[in-house]
Amino acid sequence: MQTLSEITKPVRAEMEAFEGFFRQSLESPHALLTAVTNYLLRRKGKQMRPTLVFLAAQAAGKVGPATYAAATLIELLHTATLVHDDVVDETFERRGVSSVGALWSSKIAVLVGDFMLARGMSIALDGGHIDELRIVSDAVRQMSEGELEQLRHARKLDITEDDYYAIIRAKTATLIAACTKAGATSAKAESHIVEALYNYGLNLGMAFQIRDDIFDYEGGAFGKPSGNDIRERKITLPLIYALRHAEPAQRRRAMRLIARHPKDDQTVGLATDMVRQLGGLDYAREQMKEFGRRACLALDALSPSPALDALRAMVEFNVLRNK
Ligand code: IPE
Ligand code: IPE
Ligand code: MG
Ligand code: MG
Repeated sequence: MQTLSEITKPVRAEMEAFEGFFRQSLESPHALLTAVTNYLLRRKGKQMRPTLVFLAAQAAGKVGPATYAAATLIELLHTATLVHDDVVDETFERRGVSSVGALWSSKIAVLVGDFMLARGMSIALDGGHIDELRIVSDAVRQMSEGELEQLRHARKLDITEDDYYAIIRAKTATLIAACTKAGATSAKAESHIVEALYNYGLNLGMAFQIRDDIFDYEGGAFGKPSGNDIRERKITLPLIYALRHAEPAQRRRAMRLIARHPKDDQTVGLATDMVRQLGGLDYAREQMKEFGRRACLALDALSPSPALDALRAMVEFNVLRNK
């Protein structure tokens, strides 16, 4: 099994250059803004999205200025949406440290997120990278719709497995698909290659969010707290499956508890036990792997290259390995 740093070797130089662009994109004369963005820069995430932009561009052709703009734009928008998401989800921990909302305030988190969204747009516009801006803006629109749809279901507690897939496609998979699509577009790839890389990203994104939802039950991965989804009445795949296979009385009891007291530990414990007992985590793992396999299949349209191998290895690393 390769390590992440071995996998991403084909784009190491590009990622180093990207760091500079990203840092520069956050510069501002405003002291409070600088304090928050410095904090975010010190605790950067896995940077999977810019990595995917460069790998897709390389697998499809040649990295150019539009590729750097796309990578910067996407990481800015991604970071902004995480800062906002922690306000929406009332989460106090992110990347192993306090969330911006917890350390400063929700007001500051919303405004800093807005600043990052605006910077992303101007970077794309200044360079004339309209195609990439269109691809990414469309993904962010779908992300907002997906998060709103998730909130609507959290109120009604009526989510089906298909509703769940529609939500995670909108809120997570489309942005990851936008990475590979924008990467390929920036390398001026032919349309069937752009489409193949988009499908790869979409399926990888589905698998990636299912994995995140499994981790929420398994506890504390990537410096994020566990049990948060159920506290937010977010019913994700492991629980959807468990509720479907529970005895009617057990199901009614669980639904009553989730509806009534979502924040207490008893409800979180009950949901976790039920999910485990009824095989919800195993089922979610199977579905995650199925999306991972579809992601790899989409790559068959591309000619062999080290970047293509890396895209396959990303699926293996994120999804298919047994941990
Ligand atoms: C977190 O994404 C949001 C989800 C879609 C689950 P990442 O796990 O890629 O976040 P960072 O950037 O590495 O923190
Ligand atoms: C993904 O959903 C968030 C976004 C698409 C912005 P989650 O709410 O599950 O993500 P985490 O777990 O907070 O990273
Ligand atoms: Mg969240
Ligand atoms: Mg989550």
